[in-house]
Amino acid sequence: MKVDGKNIRPIWLEKDSKVVKVIDQRLLPHKFVVVDLKNVDDIITALKEMYVRGAPLIGATAAYGVYLATVNSPDKTINNNYLIKESNRIKSSRPTAINLAWAVDKVLSKILKIDNSLTKIEVAKKQADKIVEDEVCRCRKIGKNGLTLIKNISEKKKNKTVNILTHCNAGWLACIEYGTATAPIYAAFENSIDIHVWVDETRPLNQGARLTAWELGKHGVKHTVITDNAGGHLMQDGMVDIVIVGSDRTTRTGDVANKIGTYLKALAAMDNNIPFYVALPSSTFDWSLKDGLKEIPIEMRDPDEIRYVQGFDEGAIRSVLIPPENSPAANFAFDVTPARLVTGFITENGICRATEQDIMRLFPDRETP
Ligand code: MRU
Repeated sequence: MKVDGKNIRPIWLEKDSKVVKVIDQRLLPHKFVVVDLKNVDDIITALKEMYVRGAPLIGATAAYGVYLATVNSPDKTINNNYLIKESNRIKSSRPTAINLAWAVDKVLSKILKIDNSLTKIEVAKKQADKIVEDEVCRCRKIGKNGLTLIKNISEKKKNKTVNILTHCNAGWLACIEYGTATAPIYAAFENSIDIHVWVDETRPLNQGARLTAWELGKHGVKHTVITDNAGGHLMQDGMVDIVIVGSDRTTRTGDVANKIGTYLKALAAMDNNIPFYVALPSSTFDWSLKDGLKEIPIEMRDPDEIRYVQGFDEGAIRSVLIPPENSPAANFAFDVTPARLVTGFITENGICRATEQDIMRLFPDRETP
């Protein structure tokens, strides 16, 4: 996507292919800093500390992590046990987004059966590159498919502004190009449909206020940042036509793990008869799970992410303490929205209802674990 007229992605390989470059998303929108990741430890730090975040980008970064493990192997033969160990370390960096394990296993399964070490390196890079390009392609298709929903609403409203509410950042920063939840938004914008986006700030790390607002602003899409608690009120007042969110992991039965607070938006949407759609690529489905509430691991992050808020002040990024010094905080990073609250899924293969039967019908060629 374009930033100030320049094409940019949140991840790319340096020309000599020895260094992975990522945008440090912790500093956006106030500072644009590119960080070099040179080995598996750097990859794990970038994932854990959320320089990179968002399910598809987490997967892409992890895939390059396995590639860097081959490049930096301590022995020339690139021992398979070493590769499995490094892969497991990468996989354990964040628990909720299924794209992480999916991408690592995709690269690993290709290279474990190769003996020649140079071929191993070459194939790992090729597979990681392919994961990136495939995600871009999936997101483009999600945009095309989701566009029909926005177009229909616009026609029903006689071309009056379509108001879309989104939570967190499921944009190109999270997904390499177009995004998942934002792909239909960008597609509608390109098609000159009058749209406006309500952007949930998404406490505690404010991925909505910092990242989605930045992305939409850079692209020229009308948007307004709101507090996480405002959505229900806007829905009651007829100010939301459709909710579109992303996902970090979705079960084969349609239960959706997404950034904390998504469930409350789904409840409010249901109460107000507003369509609630989840946009996701097939890499975010966990085909092995049937019960999201019981089976999807919910990441607990550092309570200090809640206690301190980061912002820009007099040219510098600063953190300030909000609650009393000694008040404990609990940082649940994701929640699960049960399938019954989801109107449908927008995927690269089309749109379907949130039922096991419909999901399975849309993905007959799914890769079962
Ligand atoms: O903790 P994060 O920032 O990695 O959370 C992921 C997200 O940005 C969202 O939950 C998003 O809606 C799904 S990822 C496309």
